[in-house]
Amino acid sequence: MFSTTRKIGILGGGQLGKMLCLSAANWDFKTYILDPTPGCPASQVCTGFTQGDFNNYNDVLEFGKDKDIITIEIEHVNTEALRELERMGKTVHPSPAALETIKDKGTQKLFYQSHDIPTAPFELFDNEQALLQAVTEGRWKLPFVQKTRTAGYDGKGVAVLRTPADLEKKLLTGPCIAEELADMQAEIAVIAARNERGEVSVFPAVEMDFHPEANLVEFLLCPARISPLQEAEAQALAERVIRSFDCCGLLAVEMFLTRSGEIWVNESAPRPHNSGHHTIDSAITSQFQQHIRAITNLPLGSGEQVTGAAVMLNLLGEEGHKGPVVYRGAEECLALEGVHIHLYGKALTSPFRKMGHVTITGADTETAIKKADLVKKWLKVEAVRD
Ligand SMILES: Nc1ncnc2c1ncn2[C@@H]1O[C@H](COP(=O)(O)OP(=O)(O)OP(=O)(O)O)[C@@H](O)[C@H]1O
Ligand SMILES: [Mg+2]
Repeated sequence: MFSTTRKIGILGGGQLGKMLCLSAANWDFKTYILDPTPGCPASQVCTGFTQGDFNNYNDVLEFGKDKDIITIEIEHVNTEALRELERMGKTVHPSPAALETIKDKGTQKLFYQSHDIPTAPFELFDNEQALLQAVTEGRWKLPFVQKTRTAGYDGKGVAVLRTPADLEKKLLTGPCIAEELADMQAEIAVIAARNERGEVSVFPAVEMDFHPEANLVEFLLCPARISPLQEAEAQALAERVIRSFDCCGLLAVEMFLTRSGEIWVNESAPRPHNSGHHTIDSAITSQFQQHIRAITNLPLGSGEQVTGAAVMLNLLGEEGHKGPVVYRGAEECLALEGVHIHLYGKALTSPFRKMGHVTITGADTETAIKKADLVKKWLKVEAVRD
């Protein structure tokens, strides 16, 4: 039944929550946000805001009690409370079980292994000392990648260890994973969606380019510059992953395309994802509308791209700028055709903070990239100078 009176509760009020609320509002769904920060991006556009900790059992339980559907925009939430809400008859997507597996990169990797989903060969360690021991014993050889099992995001829990000096300087502490360094041809992502009827729809693959220092995606391209066969393989793999997790809503599957032509799943996120932002301006259905369709068990939309190409740039806070934000060069950029600026509404900028994104659409990849280069040069996220 399509009822616009259904209340959708969202754990987390960042930019992903904001864009979800905007999309839900088109169909008059009521959206409610739980976040510790009053004034967070989503609080500015939702139906109702509750200040609270999405990691706290009581906060999540209280928040969910008078909602019909509960979803997330961040994985690090209290799943015990979500399980209790499910027992109370609430619809919870993604499922707490899938969330628990995904929240810990160790259990996530074990999940891929046990479901025969290709992923970088790995080993789990209780702490960094045990990992060092494995290196001393010759079981792990440089270079390789170390990841903390929990609480990593935006590349913060990832260390690429190449030299013995890296083992001293870069090693991360605590329970961790060692995994083989992928010999990368391209880094891609495919977002899949699934509803309660088991219908699955996938978006085209996107290609990601990383900021060398901050390890944040700063440039994203759709269609990805891969062969039609690789595209089909990546989409089929994303469908297999979402069916294996047996979850509803979106699942963004990050993958490595290796030089030998293999596709490895890096990690998955059961929510809207940075790699799907361009869909707002370039696809038949945006990832946000698709998530709303999926969690309300509506028919899924087509993810097909309607522009020849789309480039997405994250608007990151400039280095050396901290304080109330100002966006320099926005007017020049808006004078270009096909430049879509999205600002998240964060009052304060700091170096590399995600403050917004821009989607640049064009007839073909080359045209879109040329325009994106201009936007990158012109548009700067700075702090107001006194
Ligand atoms: N096995 C690997 N081989 C090569 N590069 C890797 C490997 N694992 C991670 N990376 C690089 O580090 C980046 C961040 O890793 P990962 O996605 O696991 O961490 P994250 O902190 O969850 O990142 P994000 O929040 O940005 O998605 C990857 O996008 C990739 O560029
Ligand atoms: Mg990642």
